Amino acid sequence: MALQINATNPEHPALLLELPWHLPLEEWPEEYLVPLPRGISRHVVRYARAGDEVIAVKELAQRPALREYELLRDLDRIGIPAVDPLAVVTGRTDPAGEQLESVLVTRHLGGSMPYRSMFETTLRPATMHRLMDALAVLLVRLHLAGFAWGDCSLSNTLFRRDAGAYAAYLVDAETGDLHPELSVGQREYDLDLARVNISGELLDLEASGALHPSVDPIEFGTEICARYQKLWQELTRTSVYPAGKYHYIERRIRRLNDLGFDVAEMQIEHASNGDTVTFVPKVVDAGHHQRQLLRLTGLDAEENQARRLLNDLESWMATQDDYAPGDPPPGSRLRSGGGDHHGARPEVLAHRWVREVFRPTVRSVPPELRGPMDAAEIYHELLEHRWYLSERAQQDIGLDTAVEDYIRSILPRTRTTLRPADD
Ligand SMILES: Nc1ncnc2c1ncn2[C@@H]1O[C@H](COP(=O)(O)OP(=O)(O)O)[C@@H](O)[C@H]1O
Ligand SMILES: [Mg+2]
Repeated sequence: MALQINATNPEHPALLLELPWHLPLEEWPEEYLVPLPRGISRHVVRYARAGDEVIAVKELAQRPALREYELLRDLDRIGIPAVDPLAVVTGRTDPAGEQLESVLVTRHLGGSMPYRSMFETTLRPATMHRLMDALAVLLVRLHLAGFAWGDCSLSNTLFRRDAGAYAAYLVDAETGDLHPELSVGQREYDLDLARVNISGELLDLEASGALHPSVDPIEFGTEICARYQKLWQELTRTSVYPAGKYHYIERRIRRLNDLGFDVAEMQIEHASNGDTVTFVPKVVDAGHHQRQLLRLTGLDAEENQARRLLNDLESWMATQDDYAPGDPPPGSRLRSGGGDHHGARPEVLAHRWVREVFRPTVRSVPPELRGPMDAAEIYHELLEHRWYLSERAQQDIGLDTAVEDYIRSILPRTRTTLRPADD
C-alpha cells in the first residue's frame, strides 16, 4: 500500500512528505524533532517541524487514527477548544517492506504545557484551583455540545494561560463520541471517569514528591466534579422570578455571558395566576450565533452582529406565509436547526431572507458611501438605526424608512469624519 496523506489543508501534504515516514516514530533522528515537554501517553508521540509549524505526531492503528481525526474536526467545527487536526498518514512501510502504524498529525498547541511540567514547579494551591476551573469549564462545554469524552484526565488536557486565568484544551479525543445530546447518565459516567483519573494522576504526583503538601488528591478529584456541577447548574437551571422583574432575567443572562456562554433561546412561562415567571435558558458556547448565521445563510459576521441579524431573520420568518401558526416561537424554530415542523425548512427561509431582504437592503446603500463596512456590518448598522428611530417614534418605523434616513442623515456625516484632513 502506498503512503497516503489525508490533510485538512492542501499545503500540508507537501511539507509532511519531507518527514521520515519509513522509520518508526521512536527512531526518528533528532534533526526532525522539537524537544518540548510531553504528557504521559499510551502511544508514541513526538513533536516535529513541518515548514514553519511545530506538529505533534502520534502513532496508532489506522482506524482509531482516522476516527480521532474526524472527531477533532467535528470539535473544531462546533468551536470546542481542542488541538487542531492536520492530517492522517497511512500506508507507511519501512525499507524492508514491513508495515508501520498510521499516524495522526495535530498542530502543536503553542504556549501550552502538559500538567506534569506545570506541577514540577510545585504549583501553589490557588493556581491549581484555576487549572481545575478551566478543566471543569472544558468538560461542561463538551457536554453542552453533546460530546462524551470517555477519558477525561489531566494527561488528555493541555493548559494555556489566558489573560490571567487558564484555558483548558482537549488533546486526546480517541475515546470520545459525539451525540445530539447527552443524558444525565452519560454525563455522570464521564464525570466519574474524570474524578478517578484526576485523583489517580495527583496520587502519582504525590508519590513522586511533586505535589504541594496541602493538596489532597482524592479531595481534589471530588472538588473538580463539584465545580462542574455548580457550573452546569448555573448554565441550565430553571429560574422562577416574580412577574414583572424582567431585569432578573437579564442579570442572569449577563452572568452567563460573563462565564463565556451565550443564551441561544429561552423559554419563558407565566404562571396561570400571573404571579411568577419561569425562565429556562438554552445555553450554548460563545460564538454560537456566528456559526448559526454562517450555516443558515453563508454570511460571516462578528458574534454581536450575527446575533442581531439572526433576530431580524427570525422576526421576518414569523411574517412569512409558510410559517405555520402554532409553531414554536421563531427562536426555537430557527435555532433547533431542524426542519421538523410544517412549512419551509429554516435554511430555505433563511436563503429567501438573504435574497429578498438582506441583499436588496444592503444594495440600497450606495457603494461610495459604504466606506470600509462590509455587508453584514451595514445591515447591522441599519437595524441599529431602525431601532433608534423606532424608540424615538414609540413605534416601529420599518426598515425602508430607516434605510432612507440612514443614507440621508447618518452616512454623509460618518464619511466626513472618516475622511483624512487633507482630502
Ligand atoms: N497538538 C498537541 N500539542 C501539544 N501537545 C500535544 C499535542 N498532541 C499531543 N500532545 C502531547 O502528547 C501527549 C499524548 O497525547 P495523547 O493524544 O493523549 O496520546 P495517547 O492517545 O497515547 O494518550 C499529550 O498529553 C500532550 O502532552
Ligand atoms: Mg492520552
